[in-house]
Amino acid sequence: MTVEKILLEFDVELKNLLPALKKINASFGYVSEMDAQKVADYFSMSLSKVYETASFYDLIKTKPQPPLVIQVCSGANCAVKNAYKVIVEIENQLHIKAGDDFNPNVKLEIISCLGQCGRGPIMIINKKIFTQVTPSSAREILQNYM
Ligand code: FES
Repeated sequence: MTVEKILLEFDVELKNLLPALKKINASFGYVSEMDAQKVADYFSMSLSKVYETASFYDLIKTKPQPPLVIQVCSGANCAVKNAYKVIVEIENQLHIKAGDDFNPNVKLEIISCLGQCGRGPIMIINKKIFTQVTPSSAREILQNYM
């Protein structure tokens, strides 16, 4: 599958920009600058508009991702259930800061509500979802990835 083939699945309408970006992201793990330019050309829009759309959504990446990507929901319901304590625990365990892009091996992202509020705090590691996470359970879960 190439980006060009993916784009041909979509009519050239603004409403198809996001679905096209999602499909490219799902196929390649991220939307590279070169691919974003192809999207811009296909939809006859500026590269900045493509990036603006891509960067608005947590699930679309514009850079290659490290082998270990940890995401913690910080939506209101997870927040009141101590999601931030989970985040601090992960930061301390892995010696990283949420949102930093500097470590080539691991990344911690704070994401918005996933619609799983009753099961929060929610943590996702490489797309695997963990529910009702506490600082101590996060520490145990991370041991399986080290
Ligand atoms: S607030 Fe975390 S899943 Fe909704």
